[in-house]
Amino acid sequence: MDYKIVTYSEEETIELAQNIESEKFPNMVICLKGDLGTGKTVFTKGFAQALEVKEEVTSPTFNIIKEYHSGEMPLFHMDVYRVEGNADDLGIEEYYTKKGVTIIEWADMIPDYIPEKRLDIRIKSSSEDENKRIIIITPYGKKYEDLCEAIL
Ligand SMILES: Nc1ncnc2c1ncn2[C@@H]1O[C@H](COP(=O)(O)OP(=O)(O)OP(=O)(O)O)[C@@H](O)[C@H]1O
Ligand SMILES: [Mg+2]
Repeated sequence: MDYKIVTYSEEETIELAQNIESEKFPNMVICLKGDLGTGKTVFTKGFAQALEVKEEVTSPTFNIIKEYHSGEMPLFHMDVYRVEGNADDLGIEEYYTKKGVTIIEWADMIPDYIPEKRLDIRIKSSSEDENKRIIIITPYGKKYEDLCEAIL
């Protein structure tokens, strides 16, 4: 089942991220999809803030993977926009069992490295309002289904 949420500001997207964070569990994976500038990094920053990550979370576009260890749980933030095809060298899948939360921007770029059980979040902008976002959330696996039922 898909869940649809509409936000009308950056703050509302942050609020959604905070709600999802409140149901976090070790080895959680969130796959963010959506065009440039739709709010994937905004979502991640909101999540990190709720996780009480002390460092500033910046877009990992050039580093691909950034780790934050100062919060309640490790946060692994990936932006795989520039990864083409073979991502074996990055060891992406190793992060899924490190007892943290992994958030992957542009997850659709690396379909072969995405776990079966995960939360997919697709963010779409809207032509009617530059601050409107249509957010479609799809859980794969019981834990993620329960999470959605609890907060959405
Ligand atoms: N409802 C909204 N939710 C999230 N961001 C919004 C919203 N309305 C406007 N914005 C703005 O959209 C921009 C989203 O930028 P952000 O860097 O998060 O995008 P992104 O999806 O990570 O892009 P990229 O693919 O380049 O990494 C910000 O400038 C933010 O202020
Ligand atoms: Mg981004």
